[in-house]
Amino acid sequence: MKITLWTACLLSSVAAYPSVQERQTEDHSWRAPSATDRRAPCPMLNTLANHGYLPRNGADISMDILVAGLKAGVNLGADATKLVGATALKGSTTGNASTFHLTDLNKHGLIEHDGSLSRADIFSGDNHSFNATIWASTASHFTSPTISLATAAKARKARLAAAQAANPQFNMSDGDKQASMIETALYLNVMSNETGVTAVTAWVQKLFTQERLPIEEGWKRPKGEIGVPTILGLVGLIGVAGI
Ligand code: HEM
Repeated sequence: MKITLWTACLLSSVAAYPSVQERQTEDHSWRAPSATDRRAPCPMLNTLANHGYLPRNGADISMDILVAGLKAGVNLGADATKLVGATALKGSTTGNASTFHLTDLNKHGLIEHDGSLSRADIFSGDNHSFNATIWASTASHFTSPTISLATAAKARKARLAAAQAANPQFNMSDGDKQASMIETALYLNVMSNETGVTAVTAWVQKLFTQERLPIEEGWKRPKGEIGVPTILGLVGLIGVAGI
């Protein structure tokens, strides 16, 4: 009897929550989030949720779901996803320490930091929503069809300086600065035209402003898996080119 009840519970939970495998085979067309869907300060996690590579409601994300979603959506390796995913879980408010909601990532000082390229600082009251004015100031550096590593580094440096000038409580630890460089490295690499270091401006614009994979604009999932060594290599170059 106990086994039957347990099996029934398991089956009903399986019906309610698609497995990692099911999620990878379901429809990946872009859909805007509903008013109750949860979203993060990360344009890529939001994009993957909008395409159903992560749960569209942005809730109850386990490490397995995160790794599978990043791999299927943009070919990010498990090593890279787990590094940042482990920190994400530390902010869990789901009631289950092995899952997190995308909104849990809004917690300042966990991964979220001042000086974002497209979000305001916590000082302003909203550290997570896409901010068109801030993004316009960052994107003003992207005057060519492609974004070189040097341009991306310059845009990041200018954005940090502007945030610092505008925010009397501006604060970025060395870890925050490293995270910010990793974020620049990630968008350059994922939105690059097979070069790995030069991004396509129109694709980067779609990622930030619509939180959509720019498939209609010609973007393709990177062929090679993006791993930690690739990202850290780019971070080193961004450090040399910028801050
Ligand atoms: C290929 C995968 C990824 C890409 C391309 C990416 C891209 C980015 C970019 C460009 C930003 C900066 C946004 C801005 O400054 O306005 C960002 C921020 C962020 N990302 Fe991701 N990300 C990826 C994976 C992840 C993962 C796996 C996590 C955690 C589970 C994560 C969590 C965050 C968080 C919390 C922020 C906010 C940092 C801030 O305060 O600006 N990202 N991401």
